[in-house]
Amino acid sequence: MSSLVNDVTENLASYPMETLKEIKEGLELKGKKIFDFGTGDPKIPMPSFLAQTICENIPKISQYPSIKGTKKLFDAHVSYLSRRFKICKFDSMSILPSRGSKEAIFHIALSLISRGSKKRKIIYPSPGYPVYKSSIDFAGGEPYPVQLKEENKFRLEPWLLPKSIINETKAVWVNYPHNPTGATVDQSYWCKLLDWCHDNSIILLSDECYMDIYDHESSFKPQSPLALSSELVISFHSLSKRSGLTGVRAGFIAGDKRILDPHIRARANFGLALPDFIQAAAAAAWGDDKHVIARRKIFTERRNHSFKVLNSLGLISEKPQAGFYMWCKLPRAYEGQDEKFCLSLAEKGVITTPSSWLGDQTKGYFRLALVPDMDDTLEAMDIIKEYISEI
Ligand SMILES: Cc1ncc(COP(=O)(O)O)c(C=O)c1O
Repeated sequence: MSSLVNDVTENLASYPMETLKEIKEGLELKGKKIFDFGTGDPKIPMPSFLAQTICENIPKISQYPSIKGTKKLFDAHVSYLSRRFKICKFDSMSILPSRGSKEAIFHIALSLISRGSKKRKIIYPSPGYPVYKSSIDFAGGEPYPVQLKEENKFRLEPWLLPKSIINETKAVWVNYPHNPTGATVDQSYWCKLLDWCHDNSIILLSDECYMDIYDHESSFKPQSPLALSSELVISFHSLSKRSGLTGVRAGFIAGDKRILDPHIRARANFGLALPDFIQAAAAAAWGDDKHVIARRKIFTERRNHSFKVLNSLGLISEKPQAGFYMWCKLPRAYEGQDEKFCLSLAEKGVITTPSSWLGDQTKGYFRLALVPDMDDTLEAMDIIKEYISEI
């Protein structure tokens, strides 16, 4: 019998994080203590003022929320963009709330790709967040992965692509601080990328999920291209990592009015309005920086310690300045066998992600998400040390 679902759904691989969950469950059944560095979902308690805001705003009568969001939430987004990136001109920009950034990343392609158009390619980084590709597939676009290379500091440089590809490109995804490599970029990169996008009428989609998780001891603060121009730029923000609200699902998209004003009509059809009590908590979270400083300190401590150990084992050479991932080279004995390495490390209780799950042609690495607390991080690093010395 032919498939009852379309070819895109039929051919979807299972979402990598679901596979990790199954491996973990198997180990738990065997009674193994698990150190889960797999999925990037830290278990730090939600700031209490945000939990309280949610409770206080649960309405007596439950009615449909607005897709545009409340004025209070809009003001909180504007205030965050002004404080964090010193953006002061908002006339050519629109800002829309989103239910975290995953759905916003997924849905934008549905408004950008025109069936039958020649410009149906969307460029994205590989390795990278898997939703860039799947969103393009579902929207009927042509995914165009660009391999990120260590010798190039994992920077996506679309200006190196052949003109024939550039002519067929509608948009380009970038994600700095980058998941999974931890790469960051400086202002000159953003200027060059923006110029290239403007020269070629290509939309810049900037995934800024890890923007606020940077080294709290360093003077380096990741920047958004939106601070330079909103023309042909859309940036995607999230409270998941910034405020520890992965389960609440809140974020926003900001950028070129000419794209986002029509896109809001599409979003109304997708049914993506944020419940009012979540909008209230999101407004409080975007309005406060203190809890974010506390989170930054936690991740800086984990990053510093795990880097020290992993670096001494020759698995990583440069300490990431932001995000909460360690992108490690496979030990010699496992060259080209990332899945095999991660599975054998998992047998010791340490769950990591093989690089090929995060990019088709990326085989030489494994990723640790610095999710376990400091005690578990210390214990897990000892296990890795012992394991590496045995192979
Ligand atoms: C690079 C990147 N973008 C976007 C997301 C989506 O995050 P959320 O939907 O929780 O905002 C993630 C989640 O891990 C991510 O790693």
